[in-house]
Formats: sequence, C-alpha cells, structure tokens
Amino acid sequence: MKEKWKKWFAGSLIKTNKEFSEFQKLLPEFNFLNYSEPEIRKKNIELIKHKSSLIREVILNKGGWLLPEKAYRKDPTHLTMADMHDREFDDFVLNHNFTTSLFTRFKFIVNDLLPRYINKFTQNGKKVKIASFGSGSGFDVMEAIKKFNGFCSADLYEIDPVAIEAGKRCAKENNLIEKIKFIRNDFTKIKNYKFDIGLLIGIICPLSDSLAKKTMHDIYKGMPVGSVLIVSSSSDRMPDDTLGRFIIEYCGDWYLQFRDSIRMEKLAKQSDFKVLEILEEPMKYHKLMVCVKQD
Ligand SMILES: C[S@@+](CC[C@H](N)C(=O)[O-])C[C@H]1O[C@@H](n2cnc3c(N)ncnc32)[C@H](O)[C@@H]1O
Repeated sequence: MKEKWKKWFAGSLIKTNKEFSEFQKLLPEFNFLNYSEPEIRKKNIELIKHKSSLIREVILNKGGWLLPEKAYRKDPTHLTMADMHDREFDDFVLNHNFTTSLFTRFKFIVNDLLPRYINKFTQNGKKVKIASFGSGSGFDVMEAIKKFNGFCSADLYEIDPVAIEAGKRCAKENNLIEKIKFIRNDFTKIKNYKFDIGLLIGIICPLSDSLAKKTMHDIYKGMPVGSVLIVSSSSDRMPDDTLGRFIIEYCGDWYLQFRDSIRMEKLAKQSDFKVLEILEEPMKYHKLMVCVKQD
C-alpha cells in the first residue's frame, strides 16, 4: 500500500497531462521535476497544504467530512482555511472534476434520489425516518428534509465531534433542531437502528470489498425489514481523472476503490440485500446503489 502512487505517477504521465500545465501555472513553486523523491515530495506537500484549503483536508483528514462539505457549499473556506491560502488556486481545485463530482453527487441525492424515496415512504401520510451512517454535519440530509415540512426526521451517526457541532448549528439555522438527532458513536457498534431510508455516503469508497461488505452487513443486521439503504462508492470512471488521483494519492497518500455496477451488486448480495437500482450522479464519478432488506 505504501507509496502506491509511485507506480501510477511514474514516467511522464503528469508532464504530458493537459490539466497539469494549468495546475503548474498556478503553483509555480511546486517541484514537478523530481516530484517522486521523498524529500521533494515532503516539501511539495507542505507547500500545497498552505495553498489550498481543499487539498489540505485530504492531507490532514483523509475520509473527513469537510472536503465534501466545502464542495457541496462551493466554498473552499467553509469552517477551516489553510493559512496563506490562495483563492485562485483553490477555485481551480473546486472546479476540477473530482470536486465537482462531490457537488453533483450532493445535488443528485438532495434533489432527486432522497425525495423520490421519501415520497414512496410518505404515502398515506406516514412520517419518514432517515438515518445517515457517517453523516458528517448532516448538511445533505437537512437540505433534503427541509422541503418535506415536518414529515421527516433523521438520526445522524457520526464519530467526529466537530462535525456534530457544525451539524447542530446547521440544524438551528434551518429550524430543524426538533427533527435531527446526532448519535456520537461508531455506527458499526450499534445493534438496532430504526429508519425507513438509510444513507451510507462517502464511507465505503476507501474500504476493501471485504470491509465494505462487513460494514453493509452490520447495518443490514440491525435495520428493519422493508427499509432501504442508499450506498455510494467512487466509480470505475474516476481513475481516468489524473489530476484528481494526483491530489488524492500523491498529496493525500490516500486510496479509493473504483467500483463498477457488477462489483457494487456483488457487495449488496454478499451482505444479504436485494438491489433495487444502481445509479450514477451526472459526472458518473460515483455509483449510488439503492438496496432493501427483505423478509
Ligand atoms: C467522507 S465523510 C462523509 C460525510 C457525509 N456522509 C457526506 O456524504 O458528505 C465520512 C464521515 O464518516 C464518519 N465516519 C466514518 N466511519 C464512521 C463510523 N464507523 N461511525 C461513525 N462515523 C463514521 C467520519 O468521521 C466522517 O465524518
């Protein structure tokens, strides 16, 4: 696993890639010449940490909630800011495919997927309970349920206290305090959940298939029959995005799984779910699978 990026970025790939010329222009201090030498890489990472609030999140908090939330809000300076941060460079990163795909995933979940399933469950005036596993601040859930005027509530499972504090502020701003409950715990340790629609978004992307399967099965065991779980994973389209991978792998020393629909379906079946549908957000960088627990 260590320095896996070396294999991928070996040779002239970044020197011939068009996006890198723009990246390079905005960041002339970055040493692209001998970028794979450990000392040079260390200096490059130190430099970029201060230049980009977005890349800084990948470096300092792999799998954290703030990079996606900055992308959802289209605001690289939301909550934390890299000192000496360069807005022009951060805007370049914000508008790059990888970050844009987080925004389109957010919009797709909030405006399309979640409302569609909420409407299915609200038939006959039934109130709907959402759960989000590894919710971050729960910004996506709140944006979706505020349109349903009192018909939805949510349980948000999160271990990071900073995300929970931010989420509580967001709930207050949106008049949702009564509707949102934060559970500060490792969600895999909880035995029983009560929800109609569960979200597992941005959690299994870096996990091996066996770990992802175990995580999904842990939720499956504790959830009610008839409830659905929406699972997202980085997709097999993402590896084509050289600059995105450079940011994640070279800068962040972090690795994602690139799953196609067959691999997604296999995960669901092996954790006992029935697949209802497998979709993609408009950029196609993320698969979104809806699965149900049957009798
Ligand atoms: C990449 S963020 C995704 C946040 C949100 N779901 C979204 O899509 O924007 C992953 C979040 O899951 C939380 N997390 C990861 N594993 C967890 C676990 N086992 N129990 C509770 N929270 C977890 C992390 O603290 C982090 O805030």
